[in-house]
Amino acid sequence: MAEGFKTDFPSETVKEGKVKAVVPKLDAFVSQPSDYAPSKAPVFYNPVMELNRDISVLAFQAHQRIVNREISICEPLTSSGIRGVRFAAEISRVKKVVVSDISERAVKLAKHNVHLNGLQDRVTVKHKDANCLLSCYGAPRKRFDIVDVDPFGSPVPYLDSAIRALRNNGFLAATATDLAPLCGVHAKACVRKYGGKPLRTEYCHELAVRLLAGCVATVAAKHDISVRVVLSHSTDHYIRVYARISYGAKKADDTVKNQGYILHCFNCFHRETAKNPFAERVEKCPECGSKMNWAGPLWLGKIFDTQFCELMAQENTRVAFRNSGKITKLLALVKDEAEAPATYYVIDKISDKLALPVPSVSAVLQKLRDKGFQAFPTHFNSRGVRTDAPALTVQELLRKAVSIA
Ligand SMILES: C[S@@+](CC[C@H](N)C(=O)[O-])C[C@H]1O[C@@H](n2cnc3c(N)ncnc32)[C@H](O)[C@@H]1O
Ligand SMILES: [Zn+2]
Repeated sequence: MAEGFKTDFPSETVKEGKVKAVVPKLDAFVSQPSDYAPSKAPVFYNPVMELNRDISVLAFQAHQRIVNREISICEPLTSSGIRGVRFAAEISRVKKVVVSDISERAVKLAKHNVHLNGLQDRVTVKHKDANCLLSCYGAPRKRFDIVDVDPFGSPVPYLDSAIRALRNNGFLAATATDLAPLCGVHAKACVRKYGGKPLRTEYCHELAVRLLAGCVATVAAKHDISVRVVLSHSTDHYIRVYARISYGAKKADDTVKNQGYILHCFNCFHRETAKNPFAERVEKCPECGSKMNWAGPLWLGKIFDTQFCELMAQENTRVAFRNSGKITKLLALVKDEAEAPATYYVIDKISDKLALPVPSVSAVLQKLRDKGFQAFPTHFNSRGVRTDAPALTVQELLRKAVSIA
């Protein structure tokens, strides 16, 4: 297959991680500056998602180390196959990778890329609808260790079949690029798809992660499956959630308890979590008395796991990705965030509201720590601060940070 293969569209060979792949030559598909080249090409390919694929390789390798056996992986929306090919080439003890796409051109290209890397003994390319494919692997002993759902837009249409195609102690990764619904620009679409109300706050990307994680947990619970989110991140135009799943009705009951709401005051930026704000009749902001708004139901449980991130960081030292430096920074940030409270303040937003000059994040972090509060930066926003301090205290410390500066 590799020899004499030609695409019927402009293409080029790229190197990513340890593999080579033929992909569309994106420049050829841009006719005006507003064109989004990856979607214009006959087979989808986005070089910006290399970081997403790198992080996936590290996360799946970390999972393989935890289960310590040979593993199988499914990538049901594969496009050029570059992601699945990388999993087979770069993760140790991968015995089988099944990739698939609904597009015939994508399947042809993916098959070529499998051959190009000499991986035909371990990577199978199918031409199937993702849900059909995953359903074929839903029976005991057919299931995968890992399913990676990396679609256009929302992963929700594939979550049920993806979860059913996972064995006990399996691992799910899901990308969502539909940030307009998830971040509250199209709130109705979010309620419809994810089953939770978003809110346009400064920490809407964290809410987006929690809405997706909550949706994964709800879908899993229907099958008596529990979920533990070990990593999530918001990068560029997408969010990504990684979760370990586990069979058992009792554990699934416990998972459901992680669902709840986040209440937000748009006047003073106070926020709090609540299991059931409607029953508890929490309406007024305890700090300033204004009426609060809410997001949810969504995932109030952990969205990062320190040990898992440490394991990934170790794996990151063994590879030489173009993005290794970025990944080191991301993992260092989320490791600290793992133990910090939900939601973060954005310094610039508060400074703007108070009509004050903007202090440095490090000055605000120091002020908070000096007062005995938890204070961490966040990967979600370089101007963000995660703290257990009340909103009015954050405002007061921010004032002090600029008055001394
Ligand atoms: C965002 S792209 C995947 C990118 C790929 N995972 C990567 O890392 O390069 C989404 C792919 O899903 C495919 N697709 C869309 N609907 C599908 C369906 N119902 N079943 C299978 N594939 C589908 C599209 O043809 C497209 O190739
Ligand atoms: Zn308030």
